[in-house]
Amino acid sequence: MTILPVSKTSKFYLLYLICITAFAWTTNAHAKSTTPPTSSFEQLVSQLTLEEKVSLLAGESAWTTMPIKRLGIPSLLFSDGPTGVRSVDGDPATVFPVGVAVAATWNPLLIERMAHTLGQEARSRGIQVLLAPMANVHRSPLGGRNFESYSEDPYLGGKIGAAYVRGLQSAGVGATVKHFVANNQEHNRLFIDAIVSDRALREIYLATFEHIIKEAKPWAVMSAYNQVNGSFMSSHQTLLRKVLKGEWAYDGLVMSDWGATHGALAAEAGLDLEMPGPAKHFGQQLLDAVKAGKVSQSAIDDAAVRVLRLIDRATQPQPPAKADVDQSSLAKTVASEAIALLKNEDDLLPLDIKKTKRIAIVGPNADAVIIQGGGSSHVVPALKQTPLEAIRGLLQDEPVEIIYAQGTDNELIPPGADYRLFSPTRDRNQLGLKVDFYSNSDLSGSPVKSGVDRHFEKVGFGTSLFQQTDGQFAVRWSGYFFPPKDGDYQIHLIQSGSVELKIDSKTLVSPDMPSHKLKLADIIPATTQAASISLKKGQAVPVSLTYHAAKFPFQFLRFGVRTPSGTPEEAIAAAKTADFVLVFAGVSTTSEQEGQDRSSMAIHGGQNELIEAISAANSNTVVVLNNGGPVAMPWINGVPAVVSAWLPGQHGAAAVADMLFGRSNPSGKLPMTFPYLLEDNPSHATFPGDKVTRYDEGIFVGYRHYDTKSVAPLFPFGHGLSYSTFQYSKLNGPQTASAADPMVHITLEVKNTSQRAGSETVQVYISDLKSTLPRPTQELKSFAKLALQPGETKRIGFELDKRSFAFWDDAEQQWRVEPGLFAIRIGSSSRDIRLAHELELK
Ligand code: BGC
Repeated sequence: MTILPVSKTSKFYLLYLICITAFAWTTNAHAKSTTPPTSSFEQLVSQLTLEEKVSLLAGESAWTTMPIKRLGIPSLLFSDGPTGVRSVDGDPATVFPVGVAVAATWNPLLIERMAHTLGQEARSRGIQVLLAPMANVHRSPLGGRNFESYSEDPYLGGKIGAAYVRGLQSAGVGATVKHFVANNQEHNRLFIDAIVSDRALREIYLATFEHIIKEAKPWAVMSAYNQVNGSFMSSHQTLLRKVLKGEWAYDGLVMSDWGATHGALAAEAGLDLEMPGPAKHFGQQLLDAVKAGKVSQSAIDDAAVRVLRLIDRATQPQPPAKADVDQSSLAKTVASEAIALLKNEDDLLPLDIKKTKRIAIVGPNADAVIIQGGGSSHVVPALKQTPLEAIRGLLQDEPVEIIYAQGTDNELIPPGADYRLFSPTRDRNQLGLKVDFYSNSDLSGSPVKSGVDRHFEKVGFGTSLFQQTDGQFAVRWSGYFFPPKDGDYQIHLIQSGSVELKIDSKTLVSPDMPSHKLKLADIIPATTQAASISLKKGQAVPVSLTYHAAKFPFQFLRFGVRTPSGTPEEAIAAAKTADFVLVFAGVSTTSEQEGQDRSSMAIHGGQNELIEAISAANSNTVVVLNNGGPVAMPWINGVPAVVSAWLPGQHGAAAVADMLFGRSNPSGKLPMTFPYLLEDNPSHATFPGDKVTRYDEGIFVGYRHYDTKSVAPLFPFGHGLSYSTFQYSKLNGPQTASAADPMVHITLEVKNTSQRAGSETVQVYISDLKSTLPRPTQELKSFAKLALQPGETKRIGFELDKRSFAFWDDAEQQWRVEPGLFAIRIGSSSRDIRLAHELELK
């Protein structure tokens, strides 16, 4: 363990002194070999009273750990994760692409750099531990939080997750890999019992975590809400104590998901920190349990050591941020490398601007900011740009006419109000609403903080003010509403406090008007209220929205406004007159959410019909999708070009514009299969269950199922086209290797056979050609992304170790490699295998 020099004025100085004293003692003791080596954290813990130790094991508040002032042990500040630094005061931050997009880059080095800048942004805001990354495997295409996590494949998820952890921690910010484990659905998320075989756990669901933990050593792990095989994950003795801390020798901290602790005995099972604070099941109850002998002293000591180790790691002095680190450019590069070009008949893309006089840009996502999902990962974006704005910007000097039509509306409920509808003043020289924070609940006196607000979906805000005012604060947004069309505007509010909304001097929503109670993401009590108002285009009306703080510290406000929708006819008319049509479609701001699974793979709001009609009207139709996972494409045969842009973060619109017009070359590959039908998915029969969900498909998750059962996918795992073409050749490898300890080195060459610089991800799959247990047809065991200039050839090598060939043997409870024939298959996707090599393990 290293303890760096600490300033004598630091609160942590005393800890430092104790540690070095303890360390000296340990070294001495070890030298005499009379007692086993003891870490300085253990020494420090031995100097704490039982009460002090137990106090460390639960949060102080929703986002902080408990300090011990007597010893100068500080409190740590946590924040969500993973898409950016979510501020509990609602401050804007960089919104990076969501998890699936991050995985679609297949570029761990890039993700490490991205996470490093994210870590620096966290650090600059005082955040010491980020509640990220999310490493849960996609079991069903409907999983409500798939967008936040990486892949249906544990190897890809593990590599990308490890890169994220390394990047974040290299900036001095702790990573919290979540949610350990089998947290694969939102339905009944707090209680669902996942019934999973050991083999499926080991080969699929644990495997991502195991990879990240062994390769990148995250400082924290978050245990999931759900149960696995009858035991809540926060008290899962086998998975926490035996597997994670025992077999994997994990030395970091295990914290509960927010409110996931079920009783003080969780500490015995291996839970180190109950979150959020203050203590509910730990604290006094844990103290009583220890005194009653139900929780051992050693479990408490071990947990306290892990808390102190996290504090030590997360409070090391950091070098100042490097000047060349730029969150924006990395957020754009990741969005760009994530874009998966799914179909490109006759090289319709990139669009040739020289041959274009008029472009129609249509669809509900064309002039909307669809960049992230909902729930705890939601970040107030530092920048908002729509694809229409980005394309207009890119083509501003080109002699091209751009026509726009929304065509249809795909929002399930009114979307977070568009800041462009508002201005603080009637002259509209600024966009957004004026916001004033008051340190009292009657909005008297001068505001304590004011500004102009552009984001009306706030997952947590005003936390500092809540603390300062003991919950007695209020906020008012005010200005003018500029209706872009004649018609009815639907208003929808969700709030944890209480609100009053006035538009054009009419009170549309107030606390005494009808409301509906709900629990956000199953945990936060909130209210929804709806109203509507008829407005005239261009006639500005005053608007005022007042929020009174909820009695509990978590403030949530979503002010939704649905503008009268465009019609398909307008969009079809625009398509008919254009050289090209770009349809921006897919999920909306409300369809990918924590706390709710998707109900189907369909895209909502008449989008399928719109795409069919547009592509019938213009054969040069490109569909650009926002998606957090697979979507059904009943129109696929009639559309020549399809792009998956995911939920690409705040620079996503610019990245997509570059790609469409050939300023960048797509290189994203799918981190999951897109099935034709939901029914094709192996979990279909048992997902999501009700109290119990049975993982009857076992290890046959995603492509492992589609390949083995010969089910043709719409787009296979690993698929993604480029504007370049690549040729694979000269695969070399040994004919035989030892089954006891295979370490197989293979090499091959890849050539860019096009006139454009581009990147290709080479995927290495292994097939066990004869096995005593059923095994998937092939499994991803390595990959590498190569950047190649036109005509350039690169030679690349891969190392395949024992685990690449092994399966988990439930009977023997261990990894096993069977002698026999294996095929090493090299692909540009899981269904585009370019080279193969046979190898015998003896
Ligand atoms: C989510 C976690 C999140 C935590 C804190 C929970 O409901 O499941 O992912 O980190 O809240 O916001």
